Amino acid sequence: MRSRAPIYEALLKYRAENNTLLHMPGHVGGRGFTIEELRTMGTLDFTEVPGLDDLHSPSGPIQEARELMAQAFGARESFFLVNGATSGIQAVFLAVAGEGEPVLVPRNAHRSFYAGLVLSGAMPVYYSGRLMRPWGLVLAVEPEDIAAAMEQCSDAVAVFLVSPTYYGTTADVGEIVRLMAAYGKMVLVDEAHGAHFGFHPRLPAPALLQGAAAVVHGMHKSLPVMTQGAALHIGPGFKPVVRLRNAYHLLTTTSPSYPLLASMDLARCLMVEEGTERLESVLHLADRYRAKIRVIPGLECPGEEMLQAAGVKGYDPLKVLVRVTGLSLTGYQTADLLREQYRIQVEMAGEDFILAMFSPGHQEEDWGGFYHALRDISYRYVGTAPGKRLAVPVPPYPRVEITPRQAYFSPMRRMHLSEVAGQLSAEMVTSYPPGIPCLLPGELITSEMIDYLYSLRASGCRVQGPDDPSLEYLYVIDNAAD
Ligand SMILES: Cc1ncc(COP(=O)(O)O)c(C=O)c1O
Repeated sequence: MRSRAPIYEALLKYRAENNTLLHMPGHVGGRGFTIEELRTMGTLDFTEVPGLDDLHSPSGPIQEARELMAQAFGARESFFLVNGATSGIQAVFLAVAGEGEPVLVPRNAHRSFYAGLVLSGAMPVYYSGRLMRPWGLVLAVEPEDIAAAMEQCSDAVAVFLVSPTYYGTTADVGEIVRLMAAYGKMVLVDEAHGAHFGFHPRLPAPALLQGAAAVVHGMHKSLPVMTQGAALHIGPGFKPVVRLRNAYHLLTTTSPSYPLLASMDLARCLMVEEGTERLESVLHLADRYRAKIRVIPGLECPGEEMLQAAGVKGYDPLKVLVRVTGLSLTGYQTADLLREQYRIQVEMAGEDFILAMFSPGHQEEDWGGFYHALRDISYRYVGTAPGKRLAVPVPPYPRVEITPRQAYFSPMRRMHLSEVAGQLSAEMVTSYPPGIPCLLPGELITSEMIDYLYSLRASGCRVQGPDDPSLEYLYVIDNAAD
C-alpha cells in the first residue's frame, strides 16, 4: 500500500498495543464470540477510544481519512456514513429544507427520500422521469422537465436528482446544474450506485464534478466496502454546511462500526491506487460478455443503445440488464431458476428483465458462469409464453395535499378500496415494476388513482407498502379523529 489508510492503520496499532480491553464492545476484540469466523471478524471491531478518534469530533485518523476521501472524490468535505446512503439523503433533506418548504423531488426516488421528507417537513413537488415505454423503466429525467417543474414552483428551495438509476443510466447532471444555477438553486444528487464513477474515464462523469452541490454514495453498492458503508460529499456550491453537520450528528450513531469505517478507508485507498486498472479489466469483461449475451436467442442485453433513451446521458456497463422477452419465462422466474439451478443470485428481477450487478471484485469465471447459465436457460425456454404480461400500467400524476410529515403524524383508519375516493392516503403504495411509488401518504386518492389501483390488482403486479398488499383495504387519514 503506497497511500495511507489512516483508520485501518490506527486499528492495527491499537490492537498491537492493547491487551486488556476494559471497554465496549462486549465481545472484547472478538474473544467473546463463540464462533471462530466471528472471532476473526471481531479483532478489529473496537470503539472510540484514545488513538482511534471520534466520528463526531474527528481530529486524528478519522479526520485524516475524511480528508483523503474528499480528495479522492473531488469534494470540499466528505462525511463517512455508517447507516447506508439512506442517512446521507436524510441529512441533506434536514439541511436544505424546513417545515412546508417546497423541494423538487423525482418520483422514482428510493424510499429514503420519503424518510427525508418526513424528518424535514418539506413539501415535495414531484417531477417525473421519462418512462422508456417498451421496457416500462424510468431511465433518466430530461433537464427541460426539471426546468418546467421549477417554472411551476419557483420558490422550491432545491432540486433532488437520482442519477444513476438502479439500471445504471445517468441524467445530464451538468446541464441540470447549469439550468438550476439560473434560479440560484442547489442540485443534490443521490448517486448511491455510482461511487466508482470517478475512477475510470469510460464511466459516467461523477455528479460532484459536474457541479452538484451534494452527492450521496452508497459505497457498499459498487466498491469493496462492507454493507452500510456510504459517504456524503459536498461541493463548493453547498450552502447550509453547518446545518448539514448538525443533521449528520443528529442522525449518526455514537458507536460507529470501525470495521465498516476501515473498509471505506481501504476501498478509497485501493481505488486511488488501482481503481482505473481494476475497472479497465472489468469493463473489458463487460464488453466481451455483453456482446455474447446479446446474441443468445430470446434475450436482449442493452448497452450503447440505452443512450438513445430520453434523458439518458451515460450508462454504467457494470449494470447488466437482461430482458427475457423472448423466453417463456418472466424475469422473476428466470431469477428463481438462476438461483435454484445455477446458484447465481441476481440483484433484481422484474416482469420481463433481470438485473445483474458486477464490480471490480468479480472475476472472469463470474461473467462466464452467468453467460453459460443464460445460454442454457435460453436453450430450454426460448419462445414467448401466451398471456405473458409485458405492458406496464402508468400511474396518474400525484396530487400532494399535505406534507409527508403532516400525514405521518395524522390519525388513520382502514377503508375498503371501493370507498376511498376523495380521501388522503396514509400509506405508500409501490408497484413492481417499475418500483416507483404511485401513492404516498398525504396524497389525494382520486377516482383515476382508484382505477389505477384496481388495474394493479388485476395485473398481478407485486405491490409493496400497504398493510394489505392485496389492496383490498387501504389506510387513509382520519379527519374525523381531529
Ligand atoms: C437509488 C438509491 N438510493 C438510495 C438507496 C439507499 O441506500 P442504502 O441501502 O445504502 O441506505 C438505495 C438502496 O438501494 C438506492 O437504490
